[in-house]
Amino acid sequence: MSIQFQGGVFKLETRSTSYHIKITDQAYLMHLYYGAKIGDADVSCLFPRAERSFSPNPAGYPGRDFSLDTLPQEYSGSGAGDFRLSSLAAGHGAVDLHYVRHRIVGGKPALAGLPSCCAAPGGVETLELELEDPVSGLCVRLLYGVYEADDFFTRSAVIVNRGTAPLTLHRAMSFCLDLPAEPWQLLGLPGAWARERQPERQPLRHGVQGFGSKRGASSHQHNPFFALCAPHTTEHSGPAYGFGLVYSGSYACLVEQDQFDTVRCVMGIQPEGFSWSLGPGEAFYTPEAVLAFSRQGLNGMSQIFHRAVRTHLCRGPWAHRRRPILVNNWEATYFDFDEQKLLALARRAAELGVELLVVDDGWFVGRSSDTSSLGDWSEDPAKLPRGLAGLAEALAETGLALGLWIEPEMVSPASELYRRHPDWCLHQPGRPATTGRDQLVLDLSRKDVRDHVWQQIDSLLQKAPISYLKWDMNRHLTEVGSALLPPERQGEAAHRYMLGVYELMERLFKHYPQVLVENCSGGGGRFDLGMLHYSPQLWASDDTDALERAKIQYGTSYCYPLSCMGCHVSAVPNHQTGRVTSLKARGDTALWGQLGYEMDLALLTEEEKAQVRRQCEFYKRFAPVLHAGAFYRLPLPGAPGQLAWGVLSADQRQIFVFHMAPAAQANAPVRLLKLPFAAPGLRYRETSSGCCFQGTTLRYAGIALPPHPGDCVTTLLHFQAQ
Ligand code: GLA
Repeated sequence: MSIQFQGGVFKLETRSTSYHIKITDQAYLMHLYYGAKIGDADVSCLFPRAERSFSPNPAGYPGRDFSLDTLPQEYSGSGAGDFRLSSLAAGHGAVDLHYVRHRIVGGKPALAGLPSCCAAPGGVETLELELEDPVSGLCVRLLYGVYEADDFFTRSAVIVNRGTAPLTLHRAMSFCLDLPAEPWQLLGLPGAWARERQPERQPLRHGVQGFGSKRGASSHQHNPFFALCAPHTTEHSGPAYGFGLVYSGSYACLVEQDQFDTVRCVMGIQPEGFSWSLGPGEAFYTPEAVLAFSRQGLNGMSQIFHRAVRTHLCRGPWAHRRRPILVNNWEATYFDFDEQKLLALARRAAELGVELLVVDDGWFVGRSSDTSSLGDWSEDPAKLPRGLAGLAEALAETGLALGLWIEPEMVSPASELYRRHPDWCLHQPGRPATTGRDQLVLDLSRKDVRDHVWQQIDSLLQKAPISYLKWDMNRHLTEVGSALLPPERQGEAAHRYMLGVYELMERLFKHYPQVLVENCSGGGGRFDLGMLHYSPQLWASDDTDALERAKIQYGTSYCYPLSCMGCHVSAVPNHQTGRVTSLKARGDTALWGQLGYEMDLALLTEEEKAQVRRQCEFYKRFAPVLHAGAFYRLPLPGAPGQLAWGVLSADQRQIFVFHMAPAAQANAPVRLLKLPFAAPGLRYRETSSGCCFQGTTLRYAGIALPPHPGDCVTTLLHFQAQ
C-alpha cells in the first residue's frame, strides 16, 4: 500500500520518497512533508503553533496561534487570511477550503480531455481529497497519483460547483506545494526560438518570482518545468525537487518566499486572461503535474522524469520501438522541390542507411513560400504530379517510407479555406487580427472546425501510406476569442483551444496508432509533457548547429528523456548560426536523440558518405540501449563551455559518453572526466581504442579527454563490460 491514512495523517510513499498531509482540528489540509523517505514518523511537531502579528485567525478559532497565513497547505484558497499565492480564485468572494472526505483508489482516473500519466504498467494508487468552501459551494477534488515503483507523484485538482448559482473561476492551479524555510535555488529552462531550454539557476529571494507563457503554447521562451534544489546540490548529489506540467498551453509557474522564508510553489493554467464559468454541478479539470524528488542531485531527479515520460506518458506502438532514421527535405530544398528532387534525395539517403523521407512544408497547392495556403491540404500537382500516393509508391522502391509535414492548427489569409470560412480563426469582434508568419490560428475550440481539420488529416492518411507525421505550429495566439462563445465566456477560449488540439491529437492517436507523430512548433516551442502524451518525439529546435544543439539537448535533459528529442544532422555553414562544424560533431550530437538528416546528401564527399553510413549503423545498433539507459549530465568544473554527458545501459554493461569542446585552446590542460555511474565490479573496454578500465577507475579517477585541436570538437566513447 503506497497510501495510508492514520490519525488524521495521509502518508504517501514511493520507492524513496514520502509525502505527508494532515487534517487539522479546523479541517484544513496541512502539508507536513515531501522529501526523502521518512517512514511512519509523525512530523506534526515540526510546526509549533505561534502567534504572528498581522497573520489573522480563522473565524471561530479560539486562539491567535493558528493562521492560514503561516499554515503549510495542500491547496491554498484566497481572501480568507492567507496572503501568499492562492491556488484558486472564484467569483468576487473569498475561497476558504475545508477537508470533507477522501477516497483511496487503485489505478488512476483519467482527466477529462487532458493528457496525463497512464496507470499501467507498474501500478499506481490515487488519493482523492475533497475540500469544500461551505459558503460558495465550490468543491475541490485534489488528486495524488502515487507511482511507487517509479518514484514520482502526479497532482491535479478538479473544481466542482456544488452550489446552486453559476460561479466564475479566475484562477485554478494544478497544485500547490509549501516547503520549509531553506535557502532553495530555482532552476528553470528559459530560451528563445532556436535557443530553447538554456538552464538558469538562481537563489530564491523574498516575494513572488516565476515564469510562464501567455502565448497559447508552452513556448520556446519558458519551458513548463522547474526544479528547486539546495545551494550544495550538484548533478550527482543533494536534494532536488522537479515539477513538470503536463500541459501545452499558456501556463504559470510561481514561487513565493514569504516573511518566514518558507516557500510556496503553484503551477497551472496561466491565470492572466483566464476565466471559466462553472454552472451548478459542473466540473473543471486542471492539467496534471509530475512531482519528483531525489537526493541524488539533479541527475537523480531527471532520471525519475525520464522514466515517467518513457513508461507512463508516451503511449502507443512507437513509445518503446526504435524509430526510423529520417531525411527531411526542409533545409535541403526549402520550398523549391518536386517529386524528382525528393526521389533523388531519397535514393541517396537509402544508400546511406536512412529509412524514411519526410516531405516538409511546401507540398500542398499554392504553397511556394510561407505566405499562403495553410488550410488547403491537397497536393500541389506541379510538385507531386502523382500525388502523395504516387510518391509513396516510388519511395517504396528506394526502400524508404513516407513522412509528411502538416500544420493543421493554422490558416493563411491567402487560402481557399480562409476565403470560405473567415470566422473559423480565433478573433475578437471589431479587432483586426494580428498575423504571425502571415498566418492565423484556427479556432479549434469549435467542434465544426475540428471536424473539418480531422477530415483533412484523415483523408491524407487514407490516400497514401504515410507512416510519420510532423505536426507543426508556427505562431502564437493573439486576439484569443471564439465566435461561438458568449462575451462573458471569452476567457475560456485559450484553454478550450488547447483542449481542442488535444481532442484532435487523440483522434489521430486512436485512429492511426501506427503512424509515428513528431510534434514541432517552430522547433521546440511546444516541447512539453502534454505533447508527449500524443507523440513520443518532439522536434527539439530549429537550431541544428552542433554546438548550440548540444547545449539545447543538455538543457532539455533536465526534464525530458533522449528518446523524445528529434535531432538532425544538417548542412554547413549552419543555416541558423553560420558556423561550420565537422560532420562528426554534428553526427555525434544528433546520435543522442532520434536521428535524422536535413541536408542535400548529394553534396557529401565519399568519405562523408561513409561517415553517415557509420552514424546510421551506430544509431540502429545502439539507440534502443541509449534511450532505455540512465542519463547523466557530467559537469566539468574548470572547463567552462565544455559539455559532457553519459548513459549507463539498463544492464550496466555499456557506457556511452559525449564530450563537446566548443573552442580550441592552445597548450590545453588535460581534463579528467569521471563517470560516477560506472559499475565498480565491472571491467570495461572502450570499443574504439581498445583500452580497458576498471569500473572503479572510471568512477573515481576518470578518463583523460583526448586533445581537441580546433573548435567544436566532439568525442563519442562507448565502453563495453568484459
Ligand atoms: C517550422 C519547423 C521547421 C520547418 C518549417 C516549415 O519552422 O520547425 O522544421 O518544418 O516550420 O515551414
